[in-house]
Amino acid sequence: MIEYRTGGLVVSEGQLDSPGTYLPFDSMQMFRAAWELPAQCAAAWRLGQEAALPPAKRYRNIVVAGLGGSAIGGDLLRVFTAGRLGIPVVVNRDYRLPRFVDDGTLVFVVSYSGNTEETLSAYEDARAKGASLVALTAGGKLGERAKADGVPLVAIPAGIAPRAATGYLFLPTLAVLERLSLLEGMAAEVDGLVQHLEALRGQYGPDTPVEQNPAKKLAKSLYGRLPVIWGVAGTTEVAAQRWKGQINENAKAPAYWNVFPELNHNEIVGFEQPGEVLGSIWLVILRDPEDHPRVNLRMEITRSFVGAAAGISEFTASGPTRLARLYSLVYLGDYTSLYLAVLYGTDPGPVRVIDHLKAELGRM
Ligand code: PA5
Repeated sequence: MIEYRTGGLVVSEGQLDSPGTYLPFDSMQMFRAAWELPAQCAAAWRLGQEAALPPAKRYRNIVVAGLGGSAIGGDLLRVFTAGRLGIPVVVNRDYRLPRFVDDGTLVFVVSYSGNTEETLSAYEDARAKGASLVALTAGGKLGERAKADGVPLVAIPAGIAPRAATGYLFLPTLAVLERLSLLEGMAAEVDGLVQHLEALRGQYGPDTPVEQNPAKKLAKSLYGRLPVIWGVAGTTEVAAQRWKGQINENAKAPAYWNVFPELNHNEIVGFEQPGEVLGSIWLVILRDPEDHPRVNLRMEITRSFVGAAAGISEFTASGPTRLARLYSLVYLGDYTSLYLAVLYGTDPGPVRVIDHLKAELGRM
């Protein structure tokens, strides 16, 4: 029997400004982890500097193998490096790796728990194909296997939810790539990120009242509605995907995401009917100053087709560096999903449905 609701505390909108009423019910300290993200990013960067390296060779491609909260760091890497790396980054959320993986591939195998079966299978596949590996994990079977096999290991601190560990699961990959001379200028990017997140948490944190807090305000708009998050290919797409996952896992609520310009070729046609469904949708558009000018034009025109939705919110990435901009929207989505969990009376940490599924699979 699965209990979908975990907190049982129903908090009214006004109580968002009284953290003392809901923080005690945050059993996995998700709010605390969000607040501590800047320090986590700084610590994660240092871990990547200290990690053992795979062989320095002319890699032809990079694969990040992981699932859920451990895979999103791969998407951050893919989007962040698209204009900087001369080789492709592919995120693999599956048991098997693609055929192109060979001894010219660098595979980051990422699992916070170290026990996700698809990721462990991908680890074995990568080794069988002769790829070079780096494992990122807080322990589990992946940690044991990496140690036994002499695979470079980034040992992440245990004790937080995987999706609250994006700093640990992503930033060491940048450090490793820079140390292999595949990237440069990362220290300045990470400094800019840490400083910007410290500034943003002052706006998004629980002590900032609703009127000045965009995350709390948006959570109120999304309450009782169906969030549909639209990002932009190559810039805010990873933030849109992250928002969807965070609303699902933290607020235990449905959410969907898509990207411009692709959504202009299908999804907008679906805004004609049925009215009662469309009226429950709240659109969130995530923008970046580097979005293509034609995409900006598309957004303006698209707004005229989606009047049946209950509302639209727009946010533009902020920050001194590309990395900071990428994370600025991720951070807003993380906090929004936590406040939405509070409004739904749900403990944001536990994901019993996922745990139940893994336990069932473990028995078979
Ligand atoms: O957020 C979560 O808990 C999940 O999305 C997990 O990250 C996912 O199930 C994979 O587990 P792990 O990150 O331990 O490999």
